[in-house]
Amino acid sequence: MADRPYVLGIDIGTGGARVLVVNQDTGEVVRIASSDYPSSTPNAGWSEQNPDDWWRSCCSAIQQALAGQDISGESIAAIGLSGQMHGLVLHDEHSSVLRPAIIWNDQRTAEQCEQIHEIIGRDRLIEITGKPAMTSFTAPKILWMRQHESQVFVRTRQILLPKDSVRFQLTGTYAMDASDASGTSLLDLETRDWSDEILQKLEIDRPLLPEVCESQDIAGTVSARAASMTGLRPGTPVVAGAGDQAAGGVGCGIGNESVASLNLGTSGVVFADRNTRPHDPTGALHGYCHAVAGAWHVMGVMLSAGGSLKWYRDTFEGPDAAAYDRILEGARTVTPGCNGLCFLPYLTGERTPHADPKARGAFVGMTNQHERSHFARAVLEGVLFGLKDGLDLIRSSGQSITSIRMTGGGARSSFWRQMAADIFNLPVSTVNVTDGSAYGAALLAMVGSGRFPDVRNAMKAFIHESAAHEPSHDARLYDDLHDRWRTVYPALAPIFHAD
Ligand code: XUL
Repeated sequence: MADRPYVLGIDIGTGGARVLVVNQDTGEVVRIASSDYPSSTPNAGWSEQNPDDWWRSCCSAIQQALAGQDISGESIAAIGLSGQMHGLVLHDEHSSVLRPAIIWNDQRTAEQCEQIHEIIGRDRLIEITGKPAMTSFTAPKILWMRQHESQVFVRTRQILLPKDSVRFQLTGTYAMDASDASGTSLLDLETRDWSDEILQKLEIDRPLLPEVCESQDIAGTVSARAASMTGLRPGTPVVAGAGDQAAGGVGCGIGNESVASLNLGTSGVVFADRNTRPHDPTGALHGYCHAVAGAWHVMGVMLSAGGSLKWYRDTFEGPDAAAYDRILEGARTVTPGCNGLCFLPYLTGERTPHADPKARGAFVGMTNQHERSHFARAVLEGVLFGLKDGLDLIRSSGQSITSIRMTGGGARSSFWRQMAADIFNLPVSTVNVTDGSAYGAALLAMVGSGRFPDVRNAMKAFIHESAAHEPSHDARLYDDLHDRWRTVYPALAPIFHAD
């Protein structure tokens, strides 16, 4: 066993901080600790969090993880960070936080996205950054700050993303990895560094941005101050880490082009590795840097995937623990296609493929023969049809996907996994890891500690697939049903955009 047998994987999520202690020899998760923090909504559609809360929760979760006899700060070889992407954190000249962070699900910047497209040119922005400007991303938030809170913005000396503000607290170092940086709309995907062209045109000074590293690079070491607050050993290496999606890709073992992951949480994400720089000129399929050095990934994001099912449960079934089981049992009794009932899962607008914050949810095709169980199944099918749109974008870009690894809360239902195998017409398996982003961060730390030479080797050693659900005879039927389902959004879009 190594001198320092463990690494920490830390995820700064939207709901809280999660810390895994992982054994470097076996890959086993030996301890999990977490601590939640709130979000605030100062105006409709806004979403903010306090970076000091992230750090406080992170300290508390690390302390819990290191409590007890067998694990101490001395036994931790390295730390990896993962976190919610796109959020804007501003530091002043004293490295103090200037205002609450504006986070990824904040919707205030539609106007600034249009301004960025006018200034850079939408096509040129897609060519450089791999996608159009979207309200989630960081650059529109910077423009919003300059236009609406200029007295705060002029005091800014450093722009950070959420996990990088926690890194600063841990190490006193400013740094960002390429995967998270590629969600700002300021990174050149080809060079994996800030785009001088975009910075000049948007008038953002380069010294405001941290150095960009690869995810496995050691980007600092734990400071004496942070050690005293957490129980960690001063000098423990902290690798650059990754945005939660790229870290989740690592934690799901996505390291070759033929296997994609489907993460079914509140949002739904279809994620695939790319050896060459992704470029979809339409901007529907989004390209990012992967947490695997020198690789990229593409991703399709549905904003309300599990979120649609939760809405259905809360609205029509009640919030009790058995409600999901009742929904799934009911859905099982209905035939594919729900006798013509379709559900659009766009309850909070949609990112992929429509890039439409005004898209809305809908049930279409009701008759007096439809019962509650038809509605339940229509929700499960509608979510997967929308995610198939994302997968089809990846496939139509010339990438051949031969199997899917399903993760997140939605992967717990074998009924939904079989439906996914039928709708995608591909084998669908799960993996041995549940906390994908935090585990991915731990694997990155193992490369930083020297346990593995690179990220692909780390994934190969510790991520294993379960037996897959194979597509059944329903797959042909679902192909036709998906074609029909796809006609619903264009038909309803004029209504969504009426005001
Ligand atoms: C990715 C995205 C979310 C956030 C929060 O583009 O917006 O996954 O990273 O988890």
